[in-house]
Amino acid sequence: MEHWTPASWRSKPGKHMPTDYPDLAQVTKVEQMLRGMPPLVFAGEARRLKSLLGEVAEGRAFLLQGGDCAESFKEFHADNIRDTFRLILQMAVVLTFAGGKPVVKVGRMAGQFAKPRSSPLETQGEATLPSYRGDIINAMEFSPESRTPDPNRLLQAYAQSAATLNLLRAFATGGYADLHNIHRWTLGFVAGSPQAARYEELSKRISESLAFMEAIGVTPESHPSLHQVEFFTSHEGLLLGVEEAMTRVDSTSGEWYDTSAHLLWIGERTRELDGAHVEFFRGIRNPIGVKCGPTMEGDDILRLMDVLNPKNEPGRLTVYGRFGSEKIAERLPRLLRATKADGRSLVWAIDPMHGNTLTAANGYKTRPFDRILSEVKSFVEICEAEGVHPGGVHLEMTGQNVTECLGGARALTEGDLADRYHTHCDPRLNGEQALELAFLVAEKLKEEGARPAKRASAG
Ligand code: TRP
Ligand code: MN
Repeated sequence: MEHWTPASWRSKPGKHMPTDYPDLAQVTKVEQMLRGMPPLVFAGEARRLKSLLGEVAEGRAFLLQGGDCAESFKEFHADNIRDTFRLILQMAVVLTFAGGKPVVKVGRMAGQFAKPRSSPLETQGEATLPSYRGDIINAMEFSPESRTPDPNRLLQAYAQSAATLNLLRAFATGGYADLHNIHRWTLGFVAGSPQAARYEELSKRISESLAFMEAIGVTPESHPSLHQVEFFTSHEGLLLGVEEAMTRVDSTSGEWYDTSAHLLWIGERTRELDGAHVEFFRGIRNPIGVKCGPTMEGDDILRLMDVLNPKNEPGRLTVYGRFGSEKIAERLPRLLRATKADGRSLVWAIDPMHGNTLTAANGYKTRPFDRILSEVKSFVEICEAEGVHPGGVHLEMTGQNVTECLGGARALTEGDLADRYHTHCDPRLNGEQALELAFLVAEKLKEEGARPAKRASAG
């Protein structure tokens, strides 16, 4: 491997990282402080996630990844963290039960702050200011002060990530995630909906099974896996200065791990082969991901894999397709064929959010739920037709009762968007919509499992 250091990305062209800090020396100082901060995650945990994703790559497990488009300082609250966490638990139960395979649970949480923007500037009326780039860089309010990048925000984001992760670890292992609590995870506003009724029915069956197992001696005491979940964190690795500062040598293996999250991904806008992001990512040993939009060709994906996963290790690389419901049928098959024909090991997952964004007549950025569902359905069907395991979903969602995506069982309309539109970036599925999507995926996976002749094979 060509020489790599945590800082070697600095000699490559890097996109979507702010350069307009009033005082660049202050940024260097803050990055130096971050270098001295404790790691947020441990190398052994990242290796564990990689091995679980290896199971996904081989078709024996399913990846569920979700959370806010962008976390914010304002919405930082224990209740919000809990609500997104329990929504992930509910979805995981639905998917595990239907698919009969373990579900790998990854939050888009505890570090998902920085956003690439289509334009560096935003104009409102007469005024033009820098775009909002996520709370880790500047603030959303449209004023010159708010939009000026502030390096202290890097430290606040670290602190918020640490506190979020601390709570997530407590929820995951401290009893909250015990399967016996299955009835308690329902979100208040979902109660009474068709999804809630389906979920109640499923939890009843699981509770019965638990009672039976308990009678024959399988208890949370004898089987701790009933009592806890393994939960992992992830974010887009956009701000390489921060990621570099959090990258440390693991004393066990002597290898470099980015300790800001278990899994990091490269966004659709920063995946140039000779760019700074690919350079940084090739050297860290975490499991990593790449977003893959409609412009990706089979050859591009193989060249990326040569650099990012040269040893073809299962679980090292997840590719998240994000084509849009209308383009996926044309774009995905050739990519699946290219990686399969070349014997590449990877997790193929779908991000059905980013290719399905539109602006409503009243100006709100939104996503029609039926297009999101349609892209997920197409994904599973196309994977099956190509003999590739549909490995997972990557969603922007929240446990809060927001009105950001159109449709769903309650048929949210454009007029409803204004009611509770809280996102700091892209529109998210609310709890009810996310659960509906989980049931749909579960049904699709069940169909897949029921057709053994065409069953996915590894690689
Ligand atoms: N630990 C197992 C798993 O993660 C079983 C489990 C416990 C579980 N609590 C859960 C599964 C909550 C889904 C949701 O699969
Ligand atoms: Mn987004």
